Amino acid sequence: MNDLSVGFVAKRCGVNVSALHFYEQKGLIKSWRNQGNQRRYSKDVLRRVSVIKAAQQLGMSLESIKNAFESLPNSRTPDKDDWEQLSKAWQQDLDERIAYMQRLRDSLTGCIGCGCLSMKSCPIYNPDDELAAQGPGPVILNRKKT
Ligand code: FES
Repeated sequence: MNDLSVGFVAKRCGVNVSALHFYEQKGLIKSWRNQGNQRRYSKDVLRRVSVIKAAQQLGMSLESIKNAFESLPNSRTPDKDDWEQLSKAWQQDLDERIAYMQRLRDSLTGCIGCGCLSMKSCPIYNPDDELAAQGPGPVILNRKKT
């Protein structure tokens, strides 16, 4: 069971074949071609795809997942201990995103029914990107980090 077909992997992991091709294109998984020029995967791809799916559920980008894989010795497939380490790091990222989304939610609550669109205080209004000189992203929202 070390030469899995793309269809088998897709079905077993609950992803589309196109997703596997995409992961491979992004360098997250690897395959080889058999004599019939068909894509084949080793069985560790099942765990690798499971980790990718779990990380995506946490909102991690494919780039972050790729970086995490590359941080492991020989870019090995994450084992239980690796997953523990990776998920701890991703938990911190998730906490930060939750805090950001809470600030966003709270800010939008203030905008509902307001209509001022003040350049100085409204967290969503920024005509002509006038705040760009103060930094990237939503400058007013980012100021509220505690
Ligand atoms: S519309 Fe008034 S604070 Fe956003």
